[in-house]
Amino acid sequence: MASYDAILSNRFSIDEAWTLPVAERHGAYRVARKALTAMTPDQIKEEVKAANIRGRGGAGFPAGIKWGFLPKDAETTYLVINADEGEPGTFKDRQIMEKDPHRLVEGCIATMWAIGAHVTYIYVRCELVKSIRRLESAIAEARKKGYLGRRPFGKDYPLEIHVHPGAGAYICGEETALLNSLEGKRGEPRLKPPFPAIKGAFGQPTIVNNVETIASVPDILERGGKAWSDITLLPESFRDGGTRLYGISGHVKTPGVFEAPVGITLRELIYDFGGGMLHDDRPLKGVIPGGSSTPVLHPDHKVNAPKADDPMHPWHGKSHLDVPMGVDTMRSIGTMLGTCCAIVMDTSVNMAEAARNLMKFYHHESCGQCTPCREGSGWLVDVLDQIGKGSATRADVDLLVDISNNMMGNTICALADGTAMPMLAFIRKYPQDFYDAVESGMGENTRLDDAVRATLFAEAAE
Ligand SMILES: Cc1cc2nc3c(=O)[nH]c(=O)nc-3n(C[C@H](O)[C@H](O)[C@H](O)COP(=O)(O)O)c2cc1C
Ligand code: SF4
Repeated sequence: MASYDAILSNRFSIDEAWTLPVAERHGAYRVARKALTAMTPDQIKEEVKAANIRGRGGAGFPAGIKWGFLPKDAETTYLVINADEGEPGTFKDRQIMEKDPHRLVEGCIATMWAIGAHVTYIYVRCELVKSIRRLESAIAEARKKGYLGRRPFGKDYPLEIHVHPGAGAYICGEETALLNSLEGKRGEPRLKPPFPAIKGAFGQPTIVNNVETIASVPDILERGGKAWSDITLLPESFRDGGTRLYGISGHVKTPGVFEAPVGITLRELIYDFGGGMLHDDRPLKGVIPGGSSTPVLHPDHKVNAPKADDPMHPWHGKSHLDVPMGVDTMRSIGTMLGTCCAIVMDTSVNMAEAARNLMKFYHHESCGQCTPCREGSGWLVDVLDQIGKGSATRADVDLLVDISNNMMGNTICALADGTAMPMLAFIRKYPQDFYDAVESGMGENTRLDDAVRATLFAEAAE
């Protein structure tokens, strides 16, 4: 098994690293001090751009480019940290908040200076009680030490961070729903444009970034953007740099969160980091690569990139499990990297049952503003329930495809696509499971075993 340096997670295993004295003994706030006292905002932005860091919240948008969208003459700019972490199967951000909250605080300090903000809101899912407590205590420690407040590090540039617990709705992880919720409104996504960088929190230009994205900023500034970017295992042309947290759960022996460079393979994640399949007599049937909104991959399916100028050509003919995990590489094989937290399913799983389980989640979480999402997700559940009861026909499997196709691309936010794309992938890759379910039903309740059910409902243990 290849071994990789812990960079972002280098304080995770240190006792009480969540307290300021311990974190500081192990390097915390060196970068924030340097950023505020010896770097210009433009220098920081250049390093982040050179780092080629793709957003860690799911969409994979380059952070340096996003920061560049802010208007130059904005009077008030906000930084908002997305710590909602609601994507089923995803449990990486809480590791940072619980084990090393000062890394996030430090990232916020450097980022606020870079983007011209004085205030950060960290929007945390309310169930993450320990994360909230640790963040609040870290912020209080940093304020007391003079790293936040009126003159952070002696500089006349007031900085403040507020923790804002959300109420636990999945849709409030979508950045504009999050902003509405932060403002005390219903957590419903807004039409874009305008994007938050132009009109975000309280009508002001706002950068919304994921916890891990901003927690990476201190390491980027410490090493230099180019050096940090070069940690990736992907060719430079993919512009997908650095190191990231990988999660793995479901039917593996050692589920958890592990740090590695961008570009390890799913095979490495499952068999090295995850310790291999949970039961030796039950092989891998499918893997959801990056949270439940990303389409499932079949281990027997291979990359088809026959042309030499295809960026995926180096992996032509290889199993999807052997493709390096990056934002664009995963897109090229019909799925997404998402949150980079994989859910592993063995041959005991009927994919129609897995799909029904997930569709119930999405239907429950749809905010209801868009007809294709509100009604479509409901129909998917109804049809899957009919299949489950044994009162459907094979034509109903086609109906699932039809409903899914009509949900995509027609809605305010990406929740509908994140429902329909996985539904289509389950059917396309495992049609027989659906036909078997049509023949013999699925029972009243899903028969997913506990390991997978827990993961799909985001209750996986650390
Ligand atoms: C339905 C839905 C749920 C989302 N949930 C989260 C979440 O829990 N955490 C997160 O960081 N991003 C989430 N996102 C993505 C955010 O909208 C946004 O892209 C992200 O916070 C930007 O940060 P990044 O560029 O650093 O990744 C979600 C998106 C959608 C459509
Ligand atoms: S796609 Fe779904 S969740 Fe998103 S705004 Fe429309 S109804 Fe709400």
